[in-house]
Amino acid sequence: MEPSKGVDKPHLPPPTLWPVGFAIGVAVILVGLIVNPLVVSLIGAAIAALFGLLWVRDLSSGMRHAEPPPPPERAAAVPASEPAPGAAELETGERYPRSRFLEGATLGLGALIGGVVTIPPVGLLVASAIEGQKFQDVDLGLLSDFPSGKFVISTFVEDPKAGEVSRRTAYIRNNGLLRGQPSFTILSNRCAHLGCPVQPNGPVDAKPTRLVTDKAGVELLKLTPAQPAGFGCPCHGGQYDTEGNRTAGPPVRALDRYRYSIKNGRLILGSAYSVDKVKGTGKDARIKQYPLHNPGQHVGGPEFWLWPIPEIRV
Ligand code: FES
Repeated sequence: MEPSKGVDKPHLPPPTLWPVGFAIGVAVILVGLIVNPLVVSLIGAAIAALFGLLWVRDLSSGMRHAEPPPPPERAAAVPASEPAPGAAELETGERYPRSRFLEGATLGLGALIGGVVTIPPVGLLVASAIEGQKFQDVDLGLLSDFPSGKFVISTFVEDPKAGEVSRRTAYIRNNGLLRGQPSFTILSNRCAHLGCPVQPNGPVDAKPTRLVTDKAGVELLKLTPAQPAGFGCPCHGGQYDTEGNRTAGPPVRALDRYRYSIKNGRLILGSAYSVDKVKGTGKDARIKQYPLHNPGQHVGGPEFWLWPIPEIRV
């Protein structure tokens, strides 16, 4: 029996784990979009980028080291009926096999489509998390417009240039002096469930004590005294106490609050922040401030880990 002649086989690159790592990175990005866009998705993007680069590097080095066409004398030794190894893939003048070109082109096209589909929503998520919401200070009037221990409903236009879309409502209570300075509780009327406007549970005076309009008669500021025992949401029955803590219904946290300052004897409304739960009452309340979150988002408790991690400022 004639010994079998050695047969040249085309050199194939060894299998790599880079595509698996790349796929895991993409999976982490998708999970992160649901769980935590800022942190988990960025980790997934880093994993995908790292393994993608390693994968592309392997492919490109494989192309560089593609087996060259056989030397002329060896090609002549091969019978015409048996094509030289690689001859099917390499035509005269080709620098690397067509199959490798197609592999690279498919990979590149897939990456392009993936980028076009993924980058805009991820960019929006990250940009909104970084930018947050911008506020303008609003002059709410003289301190004497806010009697001590009483709630006043303040309806105001935050940005006169923006008009009605910037109209807001806040529930303001003068808590008296704290270390010689006036102290206020200022609650947002945005429900922490889905954002409906919460209403005071109790009588509201028929006439405002202060009404400020512009030259065209548009209301810029209205202050109306009220005696609420709490606040209720007309949409799904969410209930809050006078500190804004949730007492019943579907809201996930306390009502948001506003920062404030006193300038020239006037109350100036600042930016809003989110609150998980208020401990204590009035000027003795202890409040941990979180960046303003959307309705329905937890900022504390075990559920908090299912949402973007908030930055704790105080
Ligand atoms: S929006 Fe307020 S309870 Fe649903």
